Amino acid sequence: MKRLAQLKEEGLAKIEACRDLNVLQTLRVLYLGKKGPVQEVMKMMKELPKEDRPAFGQQVNEIKSLFASMIEERKQVLEEEAIQKQIESEKIDITLDGLKPVIGTIHPLMLVQQEIEDVFIGLGYTVADGPEVEMDLYNFERANIPKDHPARDMQDTFYINAEELLRTHTTAIQTRQLEKCAKEHALPIKVICPGKVYRRDDDDATHSHQFIQCEGLVIGKDIRLSDLKGTLLFLAQKMFGESRTIRFRPSYFQFTEPSVEVDVSCHVCGGKGCSVCKGTGWIEILGAGMVHPNVLEMAGIDSKEYSGFAFGIGIERVAMLKYGIQDIRNFYTNDIRFLKTFNRFE
Ligand code: DAH
Repeated sequence: MKRLAQLKEEGLAKIEACRDLNVLQTLRVLYLGKKGPVQEVMKMMKELPKEDRPAFGQQVNEIKSLFASMIEERKQVLEEEAIQKQIESEKIDITLDGLKPVIGTIHPLMLVQQEIEDVFIGLGYTVADGPEVEMDLYNFERANIPKDHPARDMQDTFYINAEELLRTHTTAIQTRQLEKCAKEHALPIKVICPGKVYRRDDDDATHSHQFIQCEGLVIGKDIRLSDLKGTLLFLAQKMFGESRTIRFRPSYFQFTEPSVEVDVSCHVCGGKGCSVCKGTGWIEILGAGMVHPNVLEMAGIDSKEYSGFAFGIGIERVAMLKYGIQDIRNFYTNDIRFLKTFNRFE
């Protein structure tokens, strides 16, 4: 009986003190399994007088079921604790600042392109697109530059085959637009056509074999050179400042007649002469002219009824002037430090 009391006390103390589920499992095996102190005590029953045995057996069984329920109770406590511990360790402190996602910047060339688009959309133009792998037909022939014309030398390019090439200028989009609008009887036309163009050119600080142009095209009845001048003056003032003026210089393009080279008064010195305008006070920004009758006729537009103007502007050149960038290659080398300077969000 003494041994029984000792066993009970010892067992309950161990179960009570147990802090670990694995240890508890060992205790379970020890006290409720086939070999252990409880079984040992049970064996002692043989030594007792017969009449005492049932009471003794009953007591052992009571202790055993007490152990079982105590172990079960302990198990629940420990499991609860373990879950609590896990919750604590996985707790997220939502009061901490999150990681700031890195937001990219709009490429300076896209900024300029979008700015030009905005100016013309505001004037009622639409924006048109065309393929970069272009047909000789639209890039040259329809721009009044036949196969053997020496003007092709200035715009040598990458040929895909005898009929297809990487377009050399956005004038190819212009010739497509002329044909499309003639077919659909969608005249007058007022479009701008931005896009990448390609030429066989050595890359240096001011030249690249790939660059971006934006073509402008207006066709209607009684469109004049003065309309072109007013439009380009508006563009120059929007892009370079309200006090800018422009001037036309006679030039030659196969697809326009007459043709002009357009200069804008220098936005750095205001026209006095500085290093940016090479002392002249003027900066050349684009080529333009009145669309050649041949170009209209080839597209199926009656050149006696309709006339119009066109211009082609180099986006890189405008961006370099606007932002004071010295080397055109900065646009293409993806240097984050350079690109970040155009971050509008900081
Ligand atoms: N296509 C010419 C070039 O790439 C630029 C140009 C000049 C476009 C006059 C025009 C224009 O539409 O009228 O050099």
